[in-house]
Amino acid sequence: MRWVGFAQKVFISFLLLVVICFYENRALPNTANQSYCLSDAYNTSKMCSVRGSLLSQSIWNHYTGFFCYNYTNDARFNKKLKYNLNFSFNCKGYTLKLPVAIVNESTIAMYDYGDSESVNLLKNSFKTEKMFDNYLKCCRDAEYCCANSMNDENLALSTTYCPVVWDAWSCFPRTPVNTVAALPCSSQAYQSPDKVCTLESKKECIWNGTLALWNQQTNYTACAIAPVYLRRYNYHVVALIVCIAWSLPAIIIFLSIPTFRETTRVILHRNLLIAIVVRNILTITSRKTIIIDALLSPSLSNHLMEKNTVLCRILSFFGSAATSSTYACMLVDGYYLHKMIVRTFAKEPQVINLYIVVAVLTFLPSLIWATIVGVNERTSCWTVDSHGEQWAVDSFRVIILLINTFLLLDIIRVMISKMKQGGTTRQTKAAFRATLFLIPLFGLHIFITAKKVVINDTCVAEDIYDYFRYTMEASQGVFVALLFCYANTEVHNELKNAFRKLSIHLNQRYGWNIGPKTKSRRRTTTATYVQSRDSRSDF
Ligand SMILES: *[C@@H]1O[C@H](CO)[C@@H](O)[C@H](O)[C@H]1NC(C)=O
Ligand SMILES: *[C@@H]1O[C@H](CO)[C@@H](O)[C@H](O)[C@H]1NC(C)=O
Ligand SMILES: *[C@@H]1O[C@H](CO)[C@@H](O)[C@H](O)[C@H]1NC(C)=O
Ligand SMILES: *[C@@H]1O[C@H](CO)[C@@H](O)[C@H](O)[C@H]1NC(C)=O
Ligand SMILES: *[C@@H]1O[C@H](CO)[C@@H](O)[C@H](O)[C@H]1NC(C)=O
Ligand SMILES: *[C@@H]1O[C@H](CO)[C@@H](O)[C@H](O)[C@H]1NC(C)=O
Ligand SMILES: *[C@@H]1O[C@H](CO)[C@@H](O)[C@H](O)[C@H]1NC(C)=O
Repeated sequence: MRWVGFAQKVFISFLLLVVICFYENRALPNTANQSYCLSDAYNTSKMCSVRGSLLSQSIWNHYTGFFCYNYTNDARFNKKLKYNLNFSFNCKGYTLKLPVAIVNESTIAMYDYGDSESVNLLKNSFKTEKMFDNYLKCCRDAEYCCANSMNDENLALSTTYCPVVWDAWSCFPRTPVNTVAALPCSSQAYQSPDKVCTLESKKECIWNGTLALWNQQTNYTACAIAPVYLRRYNYHVVALIVCIAWSLPAIIIFLSIPTFRETTRVILHRNLLIAIVVRNILTITSRKTIIIDALLSPSLSNHLMEKNTVLCRILSFFGSAATSSTYACMLVDGYYLHKMIVRTFAKEPQVINLYIVVAVLTFLPSLIWATIVGVNERTSCWTVDSHGEQWAVDSFRVIILLINTFLLLDIIRVMISKMKQGGTTRQTKAAFRATLFLIPLFGLHIFITAKKVVINDTCVAEDIYDYFRYTMEASQGVFVALLFCYANTEVHNELKNAFRKLSIHLNQRYGWNIGPKTKSRRRTTTATYVQSRDSRSDF
């Protein structure tokens, strides 16, 4: 009886093998006239319109799947599969022609996204899962458009309306003749499927003399997101350049006048300005060479972001450190002013200690961040924060801003209490002005733009936010230089003195007469210097 059991086992194994072969090996061979029938889940007599031709709902998914695939941006493919539009199948004796993808000389794939084996074959040709999902979404949208947006009435040609149409990406509704229909751009229109602000594609309904007909070509030029980003980044660069040009003279003044080189308060303001200028230079370099470059057309671009070179990662690291250094300088500036104003009798902090704090806060957060992104082998020159690692540096920055907020509130508290003791409106005004002065110094303006606020998801709304943010970023340096240098009486006096000295020197040496005449010469005494050295302006 043993051989019976053995035969049973063989038979079951054979059955299993057949079943496995049947289910596992469903990839269609690349041979004509093989047996294949359409899914009967669809209504054969229902017609739908794609790019000007009417197709039965039962073959709709095959064709729209093909269009979704064929019109997917080439940048999303590993290797785009070739196609055959007239591949012959045999369904119960009838010839059926369908578009198919040629996987290799022995295998084909259907474009119908309901066919799981074919879908897997197509999936391999996409670069990422996300890009493939985007393709599937296109297929589903097409199916939905046919099933829910199209019927015999709105598909009929007429003299007054263009019929509903699937243009391969979007489902354009019935539209009056000589008007333009606009729809949010399909994400198929972008190079990458990431969510971006909404731009609109446009399709014209025109009068051809007898009928209202669509312009076959939908205008997707407005869907190009790169020009939108380019405008923003170029604006950012220009704003930062203006900030540098405006801050540099102030730094030179602070560095060249001996009194200022010794006053801690001025040293701290100067260092903040220097940090801002360095940050601006690094930000501009990174924007120009990596980010703006990546948006340019392939022939113009240096592809630095794709290459992810060591140099560009080092640039990102120092860019991050330079940004942290502006925060560190703001913290030290805030701490010092708080100490001078609130705790009037505290002794001056050692400048060297302040420098140490700035150095630590400059490099520590960026080192932590660089270690994390380095270990995880992030690409794109570390400029794209897709995994939230930016928090390694941002947390330090947020803490600094919170400390500075506290310090500023404490300064205001002390000012108000001083005002109450013998308050006049003039003092109130001075206190108010001082508070406003301190906001850019303490970095609190950053709170205004910290949360991304856009009223809707159009690109214009996002533009407004970004332009405002970049303007605020650049204005910090401008305001610090203006308030603490160009508009400061102490600086004016020092500059006048320097100018007087220079004119005396030139007069004695060469006999030149420049600047204010006799008056200035008479007043140039050592007493003037002593006096100006002791005069303290607001801050
Ligand atoms: C497939 O069938 C069509 C129509 O029946 C015929 O014209 C064609 O020659 C066939 N092709 C092959 C390879 O058998
Ligand atoms: C199939 O489509 C035709 C034309 O749109 C329609 O008249 C018919 O009712 C549909 N049949 C089913 C079962 O939905
Ligand atoms: C497929 O796409 C290419 C461009 O990507 C186009 O030239 C070609 O006409 C398309 N094929 C069909 C059948 O639409
Ligand atoms: C596919 O067949 C149609 C008619 O059935 C024909 O007009 C078209 O030229 C064919 N296309 C190709 C690529 O063979
Ligand atoms: C063709 O592709 C199929 C599916 O990826 C694979 O199983 C098969 O080995 C390939 N054949 C050749 C000759 O490359
Ligand atoms: C307008 O388009 C229709 C349908 O394609 C065509 O039959 C007709 O001849 C066209 N009229 C003119 C004036 O071109
Ligand atoms: C497409 O639209 C843009 C503006 O949105 C326009 O400048 C361009 O001329 C249009 N292209 C065509 C072919 O109509």
